[in-house]
Amino acid sequence: TDKYCVIGNPIAQSRSPQIHAVFAAQTGQDISYERCLAPVDDFAGTIGRLVAEGYKGANVTVPFKIEAAQIATRLSERGRAAGAVNTLAFRDGEIYADNTDGAGLIADIVRNAGVPLAGKRVLMLGAGGAARGAVLPILTEGPRELVIANRTRATAEALAAQFEGRVAVCDFADIDAPFDVIINATSASLAAAVPPLPPLAFCPDTLAFDMMYAKDPTVFMEFAAAHGAKVRDGLGMLVEQAAEAFALWRGVRPGTEQLLKELRSKL
Ligand code: ATR
Repeated sequence: TDKYCVIGNPIAQSRSPQIHAVFAAQTGQDISYERCLAPVDDFAGTIGRLVAEGYKGANVTVPFKIEAAQIATRLSERGRAAGAVNTLAFRDGEIYADNTDGAGLIADIVRNAGVPLAGKRVLMLGAGGAARGAVLPILTEGPRELVIANRTRATAEALAAQFEGRVAVCDFADIDAPFDVIINATSASLAAAVPPLPPLAFCPDTLAFDMMYAKDPTVFMEFAAAHGAKVRDGLGMLVEQAAEAFALWRGVRPGTEQLLKELRSKL
């Protein structure tokens, strides 16, 4: 049995053990996967212990994603672009780090929702950790335009500057035409707040995607739906980032459709 876990603080809320148990059963992989609570000031020590105990890998969640990128001995291109990682593999004395959040986002929008990003106008709201992981995977899809709008404009400009003219920045209030896809990567939904987008950011063909999810639609989804957009929450992204991590570790890609339906019915 190969050992894996998800490290965070807090960690009790994580659905990853349930998701990876389903993937393991489905693909016949002999793994264990548990929750690991790391002290906020001792992430590195926790990783050292896991490696010493023979763990093969780990997922990383709040608040350790940036630190995880820093302690890696090898970093994927998308992990480097994000400056934050959610997946570690312990192999041959190395700590390999990758960011599968953006790939999970793309898989859910393009494959599950059937909305290609190639040639589209894409607006991303937010410029924090969640947004950073998404930029390179979105650009790789070949959108016509990627614009970032953030409450603190300077943070969006710093993020865009990493991508050499391929990403534009604007203020919420400056948006004056509808986007094909609007991705909410802010944590505003947690505070029941909605970034102040003008209604004309949305049209009936717009897909409004919130990285957050809950039993009920988020306030952002309600706002977008009220302005005629199609909406989608972040549960599919959660399952797809896990599938991507599982594939990295085990070399086999699990199916996600049935699991997503089950998780949805239990929210
Ligand atoms: P995460 O890892 O979830 O991205 P983060 O790095 O703290 O968390 O980033 C939070 C993002 O949500 C930021 O873009 C933040 O905007 P600021 O850069 O201006 O702080 C955004 N955010 C949080 N609360 C918000 C709100 N009420 N309205 C609009 N944006 C908000």
